[in-house]
Amino acid sequence: MLIDGFGRVARDLRVSLTDRCNLRCTYCMPAEGLAWIPRPDLLSDDEVVRVIAVAVRLGVNEVRFTGGEPLLRPGLPGLVARTRALPDPPEVSVTTNGIGLATVAPALAEAGLTRVNVSLDTLDRERFRELTRRDRLADVLAGLQAADDAGLHPVKVNTVLMRGVNDDEAPALLRFCLERGYRLRIIEQMPLDAQHGWSREAMVTADEVLHELQQHFDLTPVDSHFRGSAPAEEWVVDGGGPDGNWTVGIIASVTRPFCAACDRLRLTADGQVRNCLFSRTEADLRAVLRSGAAPDDMDMQLAAVLTGEVARKRAGHGIGEPGFSQPDRPMSAIGG
Ligand code: 5AD
Ligand code: SF4
Repeated sequence: MLIDGFGRVARDLRVSLTDRCNLRCTYCMPAEGLAWIPRPDLLSDDEVVRVIAVAVRLGVNEVRFTGGEPLLRPGLPGLVARTRALPDPPEVSVTTNGIGLATVAPALAEAGLTRVNVSLDTLDRERFRELTRRDRLADVLAGLQAADDAGLHPVKVNTVLMRGVNDDEAPALLRFCLERGYRLRIIEQMPLDAQHGWSREAMVTADEVLHELQQHFDLTPVDSHFRGSAPAEEWVVDGGGPDGNWTVGIIASVTRPFCAACDRLRLTADGQVRNCLFSRTEADLRAVLRSGAAPDDMDMQLAAVLTGEVARKRAGHGIGEPGFSQPDRPMSAIGG
């Protein structure tokens, strides 16, 4: 099992498939992009599946493909299918910015994808263009629709609010999601941007979001007992609405960290394991994958590296505490 010094068990593996992206969200990366990971350093599809298979044997039961933008990886449906074909297959989800989803959603559903999370920070075309530096809102909306049509429901929508940018949009985004049966989750912005421009003051807090939503909706908290390791605090909206499914999630990653219940483990696109978004260390799986070891030996070594890195997971991210420093890798190179 993948167990750390605090008794937490890693069950949720986040696999970044590329650090590249077709958007340039201002809170994530500069207009010119970043120094991308060189292609030869990226794990191949076979290498990715090998690591996932070992992790699943060690108890991982949920795999989430992330980026950068994971839909930029041509082999994504194949990776989903191969993951779903493992013995004791994990659930498989994708976190995407939605661009290209309109085309690939049926193939992903066919491959056995369990769920999709689409990032959407604004419903206003001009604002979307400013925020992401690309005029692609229509593609994202088409992607959401296609995911829903392909049966990937409930489609989840992730939103990051920024002060003075889109912090007035929570009610409109929630209305939009409720009307379409999507589940909105609003996430506190974390210090993970490549430009190191994050500030606590600019961050829109979970309490602020809640207060704003309460001006427009009737919110009833869902008992946190049912939350398990899921980071979102959930509220039932307007008594559950016509179908009883109306909810909203708010993820207070900074103001109410859920590190004590964290069950996540991360694999970067260049084959490094991270035990936390904010980890100061990584362990190199790529070196093992390319060592030429015999298959069984290799799997044992991969398992040892995974187990070792989980074992030294720290209690929490420590944002705001003395000595905290932002990880060297930006969010786009770690995976959401
Ligand atoms: N803090 C919180 N969420 C972030 N995302 C990107 N950068 C940050 C950040 N600094 C979100 C994206 C997307 C998911 C992959 O992570 O908006 O929804
Ligand atoms: Fe791309 Fe996501 Fe970063 Fe936006 S936040 S630039 S969609 S990786």
